[in-house]
Amino acid sequence: MTFQPITPIEPFRIKSVEPLGHTTLAERQAALERAGLNVFQLHAEEVLIDLLTDSGTGAMSAAQWGAMLIGDESYAGSRSFLKMEAQVRKITGYRHVLPTHQGRAAEHILFSAVLTPGSIVPSNTHFDTTRANLQLLDVEARDLLIAAGRQPMLEHPFKGNLDVARLEALIAEVGRERIPLVMMTVTNNGGGGQPVSLANLRAVSAVCRRHAIPFILDACRFAENAMFIKLREPGYADHSPLEIARAMFALADGCTMSAKKDGLVNIGGFLALNDDVWAERCRNRMIPIEGFPTYGGMAGYDMEALAVGLEEVLDPRYLLYRLDQADYLGGRILAAGVPIVRPTGGHAVFIDAGALLDHLPWHAFPGAALSAYLYEVSGVRSCEIGSLLFGLKHPDGSDAPAPNELLRLAIPRRMYTRSHLDYVAEAVAYVAAHKREIRGLRFTYEAPVLRHFTARFEWEGEPEASGVGSLASAAVRSV
Ligand SMILES: Cc1ncc(COP(=O)(O)O)c(C=O)c1O
Repeated sequence: MTFQPITPIEPFRIKSVEPLGHTTLAERQAALERAGLNVFQLHAEEVLIDLLTDSGTGAMSAAQWGAMLIGDESYAGSRSFLKMEAQVRKITGYRHVLPTHQGRAAEHILFSAVLTPGSIVPSNTHFDTTRANLQLLDVEARDLLIAAGRQPMLEHPFKGNLDVARLEALIAEVGRERIPLVMMTVTNNGGGGQPVSLANLRAVSAVCRRHAIPFILDACRFAENAMFIKLREPGYADHSPLEIARAMFALADGCTMSAKKDGLVNIGGFLALNDDVWAERCRNRMIPIEGFPTYGGMAGYDMEALAVGLEEVLDPRYLLYRLDQADYLGGRILAAGVPIVRPTGGHAVFIDAGALLDHLPWHAFPGAALSAYLYEVSGVRSCEIGSLLFGLKHPDGSDAPAPNELLRLAIPRRMYTRSHLDYVAEAVAYVAAHKREIRGLRFTYEAPVLRHFTARFEWEGEPEASGVGSLASAAVRSV
């Protein structure tokens, strides 16, 4: 007889802890009012469980903290850079590694070095910063996600896949010259943290190579994507996440990377490329913006922590535990009758706020309203991924709806335990049971780009009861 455990336990023990931000209902209502009902404007101390983002919010390992002490802070030729560069090369195989302070800087450097106004960059789904960086250069960000990826409850193993036929049709329609590069976001954050299969990457790569179009991965969550391939794509069960990640990168010509996700660090990123000409252009572009090419936007100790993080993130035990967290939380929320994007993605549970709050139209931002209400009743912070964040426009400049109105509960890496997740599930169940109390939101301030970060709102209509929102009897439990 052998013991066959079914619980994928945390492959670590906890050495250092920090208290949660406990608040009363009245304190949360006051905080929300001050924040203009936008959870991005809350103070972190006002938040009990922070699922706003998985970006830069995770816990580093003792090995990472230890490595930071030997960081080499030399301006040029830092030993820590060489270590990080070797680790990135080992995983991606790309020749040129340019460190940046985070992912969006890598995007900006690449795009501003190689794109011209009027061109189109297709992707499965561009995430907010990628889209904004393209739009700032008058380049169109075109999403070509497969149809299944836009249907939240539909079960499909790789809902992050790009629609290859639509890519071919686009190239035929506008011509190769207007498409200077193709991107793929792995996993697809804007579409539910859904993975992309190796078969799909191979097909996109073949189209790009046939038309001599460079293919770039937005690789923030490459390790989670590799684990999904191992678990779901026939033929890869016996391959290690590192082998699968290498196979993914080999199909592309470079990547932008926010190391704040699968780099397991609090800050950092990089741009990695094979092409010598593009790399030289990007290096020249980065020097006045980010810094000398052997530190970019990072301190030597940041690069040390990243070199270790990139090793740790590919541990299959870590990745099993990681994917299980989203699966567990998603399962509990689904069991409470709340619609979510199925199957759960790698880093988050995405609630279908549009379906849950079917009394609110898209332009009342059901995801953001749900986010404000969830915080108000429980202290849990989440993030709208819908018409507010995507900020899509009709050709006449008026607002256009996003494909779905989602609320993302992003799970920081190695941070929260199952009982934290149980609490979140209870809070979501409470909110769902009181959903008719939730009113829509109306802007009182809206910035021209990336408006979700700084927007201010008021509730639409008359409150049904007292409170900042439409909250009356709220108290999931005293938190
Ligand atoms: C898919 C994707 N791409 C790019 C970025 C930008 O990375 P950063 O926040 O490090 O600038 C993010 C961050 O959330 C992301 O999820």
